Amino acid sequence: MQKAWEKVDRYFEDLLVPNDDALDAALKENKAAGLPPIDVTQLQGKFLEFLVRVCRARRVLEIGALGGFSTIWLARALPEGGRVVTLELEPHHADVARRNLDRAGVLDRVELIVGSALETLPKLVSRDEPFDLIFIDADKESYPEYLGWSLKLSRPGTVIVADNVVREGQVADADCDDPRVQGVRRFSELMAVEPRLSSTVLQTVGAKGYDGFSLSVVLS
Ligand code: DHB
Ligand code: MG
Repeated sequence: MQKAWEKVDRYFEDLLVPNDDALDAALKENKAAGLPPIDVTQLQGKFLEFLVRVCRARRVLEIGALGGFSTIWLARALPEGGRVVTLELEPHHADVARRNLDRAGVLDRVELIVGSALETLPKLVSRDEPFDLIFIDADKESYPEYLGWSLKLSRPGTVIVADNVVREGQVADADCDDPRVQGVRRFSELMAVEPRLSSTVLQTVGAKGYDGFSLSVVLS
């Protein structure tokens, strides 16, 4: 089925995602710099743009910048004065991201913080400025902790989206010994019992294979 998913991804990408030199260059740079090929797809990037717009988000948090491809999509959808705070562990990834964001003309709207997100997130809480939209897309082992911090950085109405919660279906296998799968399972179980959240999951197929996003809205 992968071939068909790729064909359909290309079909809708051609229809819905205008050619864009900065986005194309970012993907090329990420590859040339040896970053893992785990950027969101173009259509998923457009989904992130959609989320920023429907949430009327002015303050966006991204946990896991990688080379900044998704960050460009988030930043471009912001209204005047809006900001993305994006967290990246690897200094090399962050250097690549900074160049990509600069080329895309959005670096002035992005605060790129290099370091362990688990150390950065408490500092963001002390700023006392909740986010409107939070995109979790970093190491899967820490997803449970990222959810806890996301709640502390939320207000009623904040939307929390997490990438890669399906992992080719492995999420439904309780015995899977992959720590990344165990991470998204614990994340999902916490999300399910959290009374402040109303949540669902959308499974996705496409050029990146079979995976999915969790979607939560903060109720109180
Ligand atoms: C992985 C991480 C991602 O963020 C992604 O989109 C796909 C795969 C991974 O670590 O395997
Ligand atoms: Mg991802």
